[in-house]
Amino acid sequence: MPKNFTTGYNIFFAAAVCVFWSILVSASAVSLKDRQEKNRQFDKQRNVLYATGLATPDGEMSREDMMATYKEKIRAYVIERKTGKVQDGIDAAGFDQKTATLDAKQSMAAPKNIAGIPRLPNNAIVYHLVDGETVEGLVLPIVGRGLWSTMYGYLALDADTKTVRGVAFYEHKETPGLGAEIENPKWTATWKGREVVDDAFKPVFNVKKGGAGSVAEDPHNVDSITGATLTSVGVANTVQFWLGEHGFGPYLETFRQGR
Ligand SMILES: Cc1cc2nc3c(=O)[nH]c(=O)nc-3n(C[C@H](O)[C@H](O)[C@H](O)COP(=O)(O)O)c2cc1C
Repeated sequence: MPKNFTTGYNIFFAAAVCVFWSILVSASAVSLKDRQEKNRQFDKQRNVLYATGLATPDGEMSREDMMATYKEKIRAYVIERKTGKVQDGIDAAGFDQKTATLDAKQSMAAPKNIAGIPRLPNNAIVYHLVDGETVEGLVLPIVGRGLWSTMYGYLALDADTKTVRGVAFYEHKETPGLGAEIENPKWTATWKGREVVDDAFKPVFNVKKGGAGSVAEDPHNVDSITGATLTSVGVANTVQFWLGEHGFGPYLETFRQGR
């Protein structure tokens, strides 16, 4: 025979179940927050390393080794985008450029631009690739429109602020097999040694339909991806924009003067 419970008991029981589960869900959200933040940080570090070539996406390097390599070889700085001045008071580890760009208080409407981006962050992040005290290169976050989506990546340059060390795209919604080939290491490997600016440091990087020549013959171009010309052009425009006056141009100028 089923037992009859009083209305009061039923209400109490339902409330107790609700309280129990809400405590459990809140506790796990709080405890996971820390881990999610650590994973977010690691993800950034890993992508910066991929751009430099110090790690590759083939999974050969462990998470611990990547974190150690990042600690030894990379120094992050927050800069004021317009002036290129390093913002010593802002902790780079806690700065997220994407969040800053989406926050109206930390960003501004972008002037019409070839990268097709609507907002620009007031501050941006730059990474130095170091060997002890010597800066061997720079890693710059780049973002711009592809055919279907906003593409996010990192561009690594030599300390001459001209020559590509590597590039890594880590977020976009271009078509797999077409535009998504921007992530293909076979394509990104062809960027190494190319010069993204001319002798006056004016951005000149581009993609060539039908194929670029060798680094020596055709230093300012890479192959356009077959069947994905529009994404490829978006990538070239993105690189040009971020090396220019509204991107990292002022910082790169200051960096060269300081050498
Ligand atoms: C379903 C579909 C998905 C496509 N995805 C891409 C893409 O991600 N990137 C791109 O540049 N072109 C994409 N294209 C092709 C473009 O529409 C366009 O034809 C192409 O960029 C031209 O490049 P091509 O001159 O190398 O053929 C796609 C086409 C179709 C039908």
